[in-house]
Amino acid sequence: MAKIAVCGYGVVGKGVAEVLTENADSISRNAAEDISLKYILDIREFPGDPFEKLFVHDFSIIEKDPEVTVVVETMGGVGAAFDFTKRALLSGKSVVTSNKELVAKFGHELIAIAKERNLNYLFEASVGGGIPIIRPITQCLAANRLDSVYGILNGTTNYILTEMIQNNASFEDALHQAQANGFAEADPTADVEGLDAARKICILSDLCFGRHIDPEGVRTQGITGVSLTDVEYAKRLNCKIKLLGRGLRTGADSATAFVAPHLVSVSSLLSNVDGVMNGIVVHGNALGDAMFYGAGAGARPTASAVVADVIDAVKHSKARKYLDWLDAPPGYFTDSCYVRSRWYVRAETSLQQIGWAFGKVNFVTYPGASTTESAFATEEYDERTMQKLTSGMNVKSMFRILD
Ligand code: HSE
Repeated sequence: MAKIAVCGYGVVGKGVAEVLTENADSISRNAAEDISLKYILDIREFPGDPFEKLFVHDFSIIEKDPEVTVVVETMGGVGAAFDFTKRALLSGKSVVTSNKELVAKFGHELIAIAKERNLNYLFEASVGGGIPIIRPITQCLAANRLDSVYGILNGTTNYILTEMIQNNASFEDALHQAQANGFAEADPTADVEGLDAARKICILSDLCFGRHIDPEGVRTQGITGVSLTDVEYAKRLNCKIKLLGRGLRTGADSATAFVAPHLVSVSSLLSNVDGVMNGIVVHGNALGDAMFYGAGAGARPTASAVVADVIDAVKHSKARKYLDWLDAPPGYFTDSCYVRSRWYVRAETSLQQIGWAFGKVNFVTYPGASTTESAFATEEYDERTMQKLTSGMNVKSMFRILD
């Protein structure tokens, strides 16, 4: 009988406790061993909760209990979550987490501790909610040299953009709805400003390209600058606006990662990833492209990935799963301002100035569009060049176009 402790009884922790209990029979069958929840750690009290008897408030109870072999960390953040994860590993327990902030920032350190002790540190739920993506990258695609990984990595912002595009909803209403559905982070700034997507693209890039990228160095632009006017212009370019995280190899031993709103062609699969769904495209030199699609946030989809990792940790208690990346040498991380793409620009400026800066561009308009501004799509430039070319213009929006 494997005993589990869940640390953090928020949206995901609650989902994990429910799924572990509801699906106990099939979970035990899949793990070839009975799995039961022994403790739930939280600083809060939950009177009347179905798991009321399992609550503890002191991590050392879990740490010192030899019966607990797997600790689930669903607390979030990099403070107590880091401390408890380290202590759990040092006391010989495998750890499963949905905490993308912790994995992106300190994953390589925690993996090293797990490796030394022949334990597992698993984090399938940290990217893409319930979508299998970490295992496919590290196992099914292991024969490939992976060159790029990109996609819609944040369910909350995709939900907001979809509501704005399809139902003309206001940003605030759509965000409240995402919070009510349990998609948003405790502080939704992490969602809307792109930080959550930045952490996820770092984890994916670490795994795909093999070296650590610090989320703090990643250029990150969220969706607060996307307006319904931009949505209209994008439609005229046969595109939808999506928040993308992108990781790319830039040389033999260099890579970049960044997060920004993009115009995505309506003919691409990604443009149809709507609502809370996530879509992730991985390009390998043998495979070509593969796209992974599914529910990217929410209690039960995320719990589905966490509990699958629990099963794996129980099944492989004596054999580590291969999940690893190395530190980056100086110069490994390339600033994404050098990545070239076509651009959509909306600016208050004269046609003459646009002509001087860019030569020929593809202008777009729609009935009722403002007469004081112009919107256009450019040829390919890097971001630094774009800043120079538009420096004399009153730029309202400037987004990359994904080709
Ligand atoms: N807030 C995150 C999202 C939760 O909306 O994608 C899942 O990681």
